[in-house]
Amino acid sequence: MQTIRQLEALREAVRGFRAAGERLVLVPTMGALHAGHLALVDTARRNGDRVAVSIFVNPTQFGPDEDFSRYPRQEQRDARMLSEAGVDLLWMPPVEAMYPDGFSSGISVAGVSEPLEGAHRPGHFDGVATVVAKLFNQVQPDAAIFGEKDYQQLAVIRRMVTDLDMPIEIIGMPTQREDDGLAMSSRNAYLVEEDRKAAIAMPRALGVAERTISQGGDAQAALEQAREMLTAAGFEVDYVALVDSDTLGEPVAGKPQRLLAAAKIHGTRLIDNVAVNGNG
Ligand code: PAF
Repeated sequence: MQTIRQLEALREAVRGFRAAGERLVLVPTMGALHAGHLALVDTARRNGDRVAVSIFVNPTQFGPDEDFSRYPRQEQRDARMLSEAGVDLLWMPPVEAMYPDGFSSGISVAGVSEPLEGAHRPGHFDGVATVVAKLFNQVQPDAAIFGEKDYQQLAVIRRMVTDLDMPIEIIGMPTQREDDGLAMSSRNAYLVEEDRKAAIAMPRALGVAERTISQGGDAQAALEQAREMLTAAGFEVDYVALVDSDTLGEPVAGKPQRLLAAAKIHGTRLIDNVAVNGNG
């Protein structure tokens, strides 16, 4: 595996792949890798000839009171995991290479980025869209893989790629879960033992609400029940919402729907989502 930190060297490596006619697939990450990321790498491998992974803890997608400074950074361990997983190229730009002095551009994706996470984390998706656009321009992959765990992020990136004619196939991957159902996330590392046990309420609450809704029950009552389950487990709920799977706006009868939740337990914010009726 080549580990590259400077843009010129990256461009040269990518030129080599192109010259050999190889299809390059990118897995963008912020590091602190877990089995969920390795599943993305696996999908990347099945979708191309070469796999690139980026690790960059992007400051512009964290709000002022969020966890940027304590976000887990474990470069050596991550690099070892990726090398063992057969990754070809690890792109780890320093912050000055991503945001040099005078950097003043940005991408804002209206609509799909506005509700849910967008409402609770102002500026978050501008930071995500801008850094992902930069990563795409730097690595120039044929395809990129994103987890459905960050469902709204995936929707924002799909919209950006369509709107800006980026010639990149976006592949979404189902959420990888721990044995008890908790969605895998780098932020799970923040959970002390007691909170880790309580966190199981997140997939359970979504599961209970999803069953009610898919069986034709009252959606508002199902959302309220999910909120109550989370609160009873010690969470402070940001939202539990049922939305149209494509637009993330109001659900439309007969179209795929998604159930999403975000809540904090003792300062650790978890998000999760499920398709209603296994559809969307
Ligand atoms: O999902 C993530 O890890 C990040 O939001 C991403 C896509 C790497 C952009 O920083």
